[in-house]
Amino acid sequence: METSQEIEKQKQYIEKVKEANKGKNLKYYILTMGCQLNENDSEKLCGMIEEMGYAKTEQYQEADLVLFNTCCVRENAEDKLFGKLGELKRVKEQKGTIIAIGGCMMQEKHITDKIHESYPYTDIIFGTHTLHKFPEDLYKTIQSKTKMQDVLDIDGEVYEGLPIKRTSNIKASVTIMYGCNNFCTYCIVPYVRGRERSRHPKDILEEVEQLAKEGYKEITLLGQNVNSYLIVEQWKEKNIDYQGINSFATLLRAINKIDGIERIRFVSPHPKDFTDDVIDAIAECEKVCKLVHLPLQSGSTNVLKRMNRKYTKEQYIELVDKMKSRIPNLTLSTDIIVGFAGETEEDFEDTLDVVKKVCFEQVYMFIYSRRVGTPGDKMPDQIPEEIKHERFNKLKELVESQIEENNQKYVGTIQKVLVEGPSKNNPELLTGRTDSNKVVIFEGPAELKDKIIDLKIVSEHMWYLKGEI
Ligand code: 5AD
Ligand code: SF4
Repeated sequence: METSQEIEKQKQYIEKVKEANKGKNLKYYILTMGCQLNENDSEKLCGMIEEMGYAKTEQYQEADLVLFNTCCVRENAEDKLFGKLGELKRVKEQKGTIIAIGGCMMQEKHITDKIHESYPYTDIIFGTHTLHKFPEDLYKTIQSKTKMQDVLDIDGEVYEGLPIKRTSNIKASVTIMYGCNNFCTYCIVPYVRGRERSRHPKDILEEVEQLAKEGYKEITLLGQNVNSYLIVEQWKEKNIDYQGINSFATLLRAINKIDGIERIRFVSPHPKDFTDDVIDAIAECEKVCKLVHLPLQSGSTNVLKRMNRKYTKEQYIELVDKMKSRIPNLTLSTDIIVGFAGETEEDFEDTLDVVKKVCFEQVYMFIYSRRVGTPGDKMPDQIPEEIKHERFNKLKELVESQIEENNQKYVGTIQKVLVEGPSKNNPELLTGRTDSNKVVIFEGPAELKDKIIDLKIVSEHMWYLKGEI
């Protein structure tokens, strides 16, 4: 079946569930774990669920439908899911709540087996390739009160035209590609999200144009490996060239031209694919933020080799130097894993060394978590937990001292800030973000919401800056 026909079919199921739910005032609760791609999937799920007549609640106890959108990149998400499922048992018994679990973790057989065995009151299990079929799965569950398992092992298609309920009305995420072909040896993603599939440039441009019309100012382009957008073989064969878009760089340039959009961000690129045309596009497109997230993972060439990252410590530093020389005001953020199998004290020192040299704006730090089915899990010389934690704390100390030092550089400067609205901690104040994604808190009139304004930075704190109009 054509993907468009499949979506039409699901829209009919949306209508059927809506009809069945009429006048019942039903509520749903959703918990999203993991990355921005999962958040974006949840926005699509919320779009479908709200069209089916459910209103959102933050209390799972009062929900008629509870949905978990899971992540399996690190182990702690599993503990969290099983804890939540345990809590739900009583609610389910009292209220007959429909429990649905979707996302990456459901692509792992040992997890779905455990759910069947220990949490048999779960109603719907669906994977990353069957998210668009949620209306059908829900309808069948409501009608027949039977359990549904809807997980596909083969790569899914790219489905367009699902309803979406976004969490913000200023900033929006737009997925540009699905899946990953890289097989970094620590990572489960290629096994649960399948091979790379790019969205057609036309669909992406239309989505961004629509967002601009609705008043969105900031777009984040999402993909496991954004700079292999359109370069995978099946696209080369199709010879896609829509309005001159045939690569990630040309996509950035096209989005940069869309009126109304003021900021463009993207996550995550892979250093090995960071080609010169992308560097030039960032430098030349005024809307593309000059904060680039460039995952390092490790600073040791030996560890990088075992991780199958396909670059060395020196190549990473060279790339950073090249980017800094070509992109004025460039800032960088990164991901780092500590304690990967075989990481020696010397290897870890190499990571610290790169952090010192590059001076990142932000570092997302992770303790290596062994994932069943990945090559990393089978490697010898796994690092004991206490050493992993020791190294993590050492890295954290270095990163925090750098952030403090870096924050001081902002004091006295004028920054362009996209105002998001009242601050959560103090509603008297407004909050926004700089181009480099730093939070700025300041006093000002509520009408500034959604605007980009100049603020003078007057003081710095660990996780935010204070500004004045
Ligand atoms: N253990 C710890 N961190 C991991 N990441 C991916 N897989 C693992 C793992 N098994 C981190 C990487 C990646 C980020 C999204 O999560 O740093 O860039
Ligand atoms: Fe995982 Fe590496 Fe793919 Fe990122 S590039 S999703 S870390 S395999």
